[in-house]
Amino acid sequence: MRILVVGSGGREHALAQALLRDPAVTQICCAPGNAGIAMTPGVCCCTVDIANPQAIAELARQFGAELVVIGPEGPLVHGAADAVRAAGIACFGPSAAAAQLEGSKAFAKQVMDEAGVPTAKAAVCGTVDEVRQAMAKFGAPYVIKDDGLASGKGVVVTDDADLAIEHATKCLARGDGRVLVEEYLDGPEVSLFALTDGVTVRPLQPAQDFKRAFDGDAGPNTGGMGAYSPLPWVPTDLVSQVQASVLQPTVDAMRERGTPFSGLLYAGLALTSRGLRVVEFNARFGDPETQVVLARLRTPLGTALAACANGTLAELPELQWDPRAAVTIVLAAAGYPDTPRTGDPITGLQGTQQDPDISVQFAGVTATADALSLELRSNGGRVLTVTAMGPDLATARERANQAIAGIHLADAHYRRDIAAWAAMQPAAVR
Ligand code: AMP
Ligand code: GLY
Repeated sequence: MRILVVGSGGREHALAQALLRDPAVTQICCAPGNAGIAMTPGVCCCTVDIANPQAIAELARQFGAELVVIGPEGPLVHGAADAVRAAGIACFGPSAAAAQLEGSKAFAKQVMDEAGVPTAKAAVCGTVDEVRQAMAKFGAPYVIKDDGLASGKGVVVTDDADLAIEHATKCLARGDGRVLVEEYLDGPEVSLFALTDGVTVRPLQPAQDFKRAFDGDAGPNTGGMGAYSPLPWVPTDLVSQVQASVLQPTVDAMRERGTPFSGLLYAGLALTSRGLRVVEFNARFGDPETQVVLARLRTPLGTALAACANGTLAELPELQWDPRAAVTIVLAAAGYPDTPRTGDPITGLQGTQQDPDISVQFAGVTATADALSLELRSNGGRVLTVTAMGPDLATARERANQAIAGIHLADAHYRRDIAAWAAMQPAAVR
């Protein structure tokens, strides 16, 4: 099977690495990919304008793709999956209409309401006055969300009413100008991904993401600074609970509305004192949770994604998992997330290449070639991720920490506390 993976981050590199382990996969093209992904044997990279659905479909045709896997939300919301399917090529990823589950938070709330899915109460506001009223109703801490896609910058959670109003005002001035004011959800967050063909739903293993930039959950929100799986501290029946109360009802509601959702449904959950609640839906794999989840997946990934694209997920045997633990740590450029510095050389990668339990996924990197060698340089905020496997979380995190410490990027930062608390919980691996 020839597969085109669309995207250029650590998530897409992790997808390519997992697809390469599937004996049914013969060739992978990652578009646009990056200089680090291009160094992976068996993977080529091609330029493409990912904002142009027709260009993606045309590249899929030229490459002879039998399956297209779309990584980021932008192309999905712009109709990349629709264009690929219209060209007669199987595609893993929802239609533009179904990707509204991520593209509009107001739409997602409406679907959850119809489907009886537990989530934070929310008010959709079109003016600052409405925002003030909703803030008074829900009280502090205030949760203010841009309705549309905002590359991880759309949500502000704060006790400061002025800051909340300031964020709401900014969001209202953009796009179609709607914001959500939400009830605050306490409790730890869990990311649970599910594969679906629009009818059948197969949850993957849960993971936890670390959204804040610095140790101890300090600093600004980021795209994600690390992740681990499994989660020793969650109830043993969490996955089946989420399947029954969130995933299946949402997929059923989308189908009944005439906009079936196929691809990856990402449920961001809060385990609150009043029970589980959906914080958000995404219409794609999360980054960096994908790195740990796919590192543990034993079922051949290409076959599973093709089953979603072809509507035959019910026939796929039960998903198989590596019982070991996985920990991913993000190496971020100086200044990330506000003003990441680019152009610094990345060295010390050789140390990670010998160990089968360590893998590197490249994200914000570019290459400069001199006559003798290819040198990778930073070219974005999240530069790369290091993923380590181990018999338990403690070992996996020690391996990941050791491996990332050997990689050099001037003034880079990474979190030292990824999975630290979880590794001390009993029954670290079930
Ligand atoms: P979202 O883009 O909706 O996932 O929001 C980004 C982050 O903001 C989440 O991962 C949470 O940490 C936080 N957040 C979002 N909604 C709420 C809420 N209702 N209560 C508390 N925190 C929230
Ligand atoms: N790691 C969070 C996300 O991918 O949205």
